Amino acid sequence: MKEKIERLKKERNAVILAHYYARPEIQDLADFIGDSLALAQIAATLKEPVIVMCGVNFMAETAKILCPDKTVLCPDLNAGCSLADSCPAPEFEAFIKEHPGHTVISYVNTSAAVKALSDVLVTSSNARKIVDSFHADEKIIFGPDRNLGNYINSVTGRKMVLWDGACHVHEEFSAEKIAALKAEHPAAKVLAHPECKKPVLLLADVVGSTAALLKAATEAPDGSEFIVATESGILHEMRRLNPSKTFIPAPPEDSTCACNDCAFMKLNTLEKLAACLENMAPQVEVDPELAARARKPIDRMLCLS
Ligand code: 13P
Ligand code: SF4
Repeated sequence: MKEKIERLKKERNAVILAHYYARPEIQDLADFIGDSLALAQIAATLKEPVIVMCGVNFMAETAKILCPDKTVLCPDLNAGCSLADSCPAPEFEAFIKEHPGHTVISYVNTSAAVKALSDVLVTSSNARKIVDSFHADEKIIFGPDRNLGNYINSVTGRKMVLWDGACHVHEEFSAEKIAALKAEHPAAKVLAHPECKKPVLLLADVVGSTAALLKAATEAPDGSEFIVATESGILHEMRRLNPSKTFIPAPPEDSTCACNDCAFMKLNTLEKLAACLENMAPQVEVDPELAARARKPIDRMLCLS
């Protein structure tokens, strides 16, 4: 399967991008792996005519908006995002109208239609920096992730108005179980993604995007231990780059549910990746007029990053 993908990739002059949450075997053969900011930044600079996004739909849509003349493939178009789904564009538009005079800052985990309603986008890597770039008195709506929004409010002292959305994976981590694990592993540092709930973030030694958590783990001394409160896919790259260190997945509330796997990310398999390169389908399309409106806040984010 890997040989077939390599052959098709050359024939199609394609580049494979994978998020850190993709299946390990996909990360291993991707040309680039990264967090959502890095994937957007890389997509914006590629020369090749075909991009295969092994992430979720909003990541593929962002790549298509940035590269309208390229073919953007997504191995499974059902790879959605519960956080993006928690913010339907018509309701978000009504919410914006209820708060006149507010600047709209949206997380990149949104549909193209919600991006088009926003003044600037952020990812978990640059949210604080971009919020800080606005005057302290600026009235701001932040959507759709309430946990990331609350976290940014707490570290910046802002009072941004928050949309009430969340990611079903990150909301499931249990602060009580993480505290119990910490007691068993007193030297372990807790690494948490800001989409986790506040009680989990209060236990964390490092709060950051997937790339920031990976960097923190990689810069720590040999033999360090970590409890990792984000989607399980990141453990593959953490362990690959840090063979002397121990990474313990943070437990969800329900230990039987494998809730720290994002089922959407895991829809992309090697078989579907090979098939999409072979058939040049499914392709991600964004209406050009909508794409042009959604591009402005993405470009503004890339500029501010
Ligand atoms: P990153 O910004 O760390 O890539 O996070 C994306 C995401 O979907 C988190 O659930
Ligand atoms: Fe969306 Fe959550 Fe999956 Fe990230 S982990 S892609 S926010 S559903």
